[in-house]
This record gives sequence, structure tokens and C-alpha cells, in this order.
Amino acid sequence: MTSTSTPKNYGRLALDAVGGSLSEEMTNMLVGELQHVETVLDAAASQTSAFADETSHHLMRAGGKRVRPMLVLLCSQLGGGVSPRVHTAAAAVELVHLASLYHDDVMDEAPKRRGALSAHEKWGNNVAILTGDLLFARASQLSLEVGAEAMRVQAETFERLVLGQLHEFVGTTESDDPIEHYLSVLADKTGSLISASCQFGVIASDGPAELLPVVKEYGEAVGVAFQLADDVIDLTVDGKDSGKTPGTDLREGVATLPVLLARKAAQAGDESAAEVVAKVDADLTEDAALEEARQALAGHEVLEQTRAEARAWADRAVEALAPLPDGEIKDALATFAYGTVERAR
Ligand code: FPP
Ligand code: MG
Repeated sequence: MTSTSTPKNYGRLALDAVGGSLSEEMTNMLVGELQHVETVLDAAASQTSAFADETSHHLMRAGGKRVRPMLVLLCSQLGGGVSPRVHTAAAAVELVHLASLYHDDVMDEAPKRRGALSAHEKWGNNVAILTGDLLFARASQLSLEVGAEAMRVQAETFERLVLGQLHEFVGTTESDDPIEHYLSVLADKTGSLISASCQFGVIASDGPAELLPVVKEYGEAVGVAFQLADDVIDLTVDGKDSGKTPGTDLREGVATLPVLLARKAAQAGDESAAEVVAKVDADLTEDAALEEARQALAGHEVLEQTRAEARAWADRAVEALAPLPDGEIKDALATFAYGTVERAR
């Protein structure tokens, strides 16, 4: 194993997402446990070949909020609490996430990830794809250590990640409703792994089996809410403060929910929506045209409709929590759901 990178304060970053809803005692415990997860993660990605070792640790060391491991730890409180088996489960979901990012950046031809060069920019597509495969293999080993049920959830999740990506890539067919298609892609691409993280927490802590469908539904809805909030942020973020470039989805021609809603309204005869669509469909290579399209969308009611849809998914997530015992964990999961849609970046 190569030397561990300087531990970043991953725990704090992830816990910011639960908006300070936890007691100090619980917060300190989770922050400490996330550092243990970091050690398991680092070891799980290590390779005997120095080159493979470097490529395997590249994105892990570039940053990330460790939201998925945090959800594993939080949901383990619904069972027997944190243990080495829970650390293993938390590292497994993060590795699946990392593996998918190596592949996603190849498909999106993304130059950067987490402020660092993407793996394919650094080493080429083949290395990036194979490194994703390596990490996915290691994730499978960890999930098997957690047990057969975790392995089943991981296999199911992998299938949905791939199908989500595939359906996004091929787009809609004649018979698909574009908005339904988009929401199902978000559920597969993002909801499935957030949901798996919550399930891993219950499984690895031997929590009550009847809570599995509860956290499964919660995680899935949170994932969709999170992605819809991203659609709003892409149109409204202040590039100077956040380091994000506003209008990135627009420039890349990603049909996000605001765009899909504008198209639907335009088809139904709404003239203001038709004007917005004309700007979105214009040549956006020039910054001025991009900014005009961004402002048109951000100034139209489709933005508020997208916000409302994101909130509705957060509400759905919180409603799913009803069978959980009242207390700190239920509150933290609810705060996390609303935090994902209220965040500014
Ligand atoms: C990010 O999407 C991508 C995903 C959430 C999932 C990608 C899934 C695969 C590549 C399938 C293969 C999976 C494995 C485990 C090897 P985005 O491009 O919308 O988000 P971004 O802005 O973070 O790039
Ligand atoms: Mg991408």
C-alpha cells in the first residue's frame, strides 16, 4: 500500500449536509468513524503495481464529500450501530461511486473532476476505464465480506447505474414521455446508489429487515431530489463563489428538467416558453448566447416548477421515513433530504 494521503476533513463535509441536526456526541462519533472508513477505502484501492495504485487512488484523493459513506453510518444506527463490517460497507458504496465516475468522465469527455485532471485526461481512456473496473472489482470484494444480501443489493445497483447511463445516452423513443424518461434516468443513475448506501447501513448493522424497504425508498427519492436541485443550481449558481460554471448543462446540450418543461409548455402553445426554447436551441458556443439562454430559463416559471419538483421528491423521501422510530436519526435523514434541495451549490 502506498502512503495514505493527508486525511481531509471528509466527516465535516458530509455532516454539513445534515445541517447540524445531530447532537454533538453523534456528530463527533460520525466524524471519527468516517476517518476509519477512509483508511478502509485507501487500503481497498491499493494495488501491487505502482501504476495501478496511483490511478486507483487518483479520484479518491482529489476530494469528494463522502455523502454515501455518511448515509451508511447514519443508517447503521437503525441497527446495531457502527462496526468494522459497517466501515467495509461504507467503503464499498464509495468505491462503486468512484468507479462510476472514472467511466462517466470518459463518456462525458470531462476534462476535470473535483478540481483535478480527470483520469482519462491524465492517462487516456483505456486506463481510466480499466481503473474504474478495478475499483468496481474491489467494491464487489468488500460487499461480499459484508454478506450475500449486500452483494445482492450491489448487483442490483450496478445494473441500474448502467441502465440509467445507457438510457440517458440513447435518449427517448417515440413512445417515451421525455419528463418521465428523465426522472427514471435520475432514479437509476443517482437514486439507486444513494438508496443502496442506506440499505447497506441497515444490512451491515443487522438492522430490522422491515426497515430495508423504508430506507430504500427514502434513498431513491433523495437521489432524484439531489439531481433536480443540480438542474436549478446550473442555472442560478454564482460562478465566482462556487467554482462552478453556470450554464454548463445548457452548453453541453443536457436536457435538464427546466428545459424539458419549457419544451412541453412551448408545444402546448405558451409563447414565453417558445421564446425561451428558441434561445436554448440557438448556437451556444459564444458566451453571450449562452448567458442569454441561461437568463431566459432562470427568469421563466419553469425554474420555480423545477424547484417545486425537487421539493416534492424531498417530501416523498421524508414521508417514506414514517415507519422509523422518532428520534435523532430520523430527524437527521429528514434534514439531509431537505438540505439537498435547499443547498446553493
Ligand atoms: C454522473 O453523471 C454519473 C453517474 C451518477 C453514474 C454513471 C454510471 C456509469 C458510468 C455506469 C458504470 C458504473 C460503474 C460502477 C463502473 P453526470 O455526468 O450527470 O454527473 P457529473 O456532473 O458528476 O459528471
Ligand atoms: Mg459526467
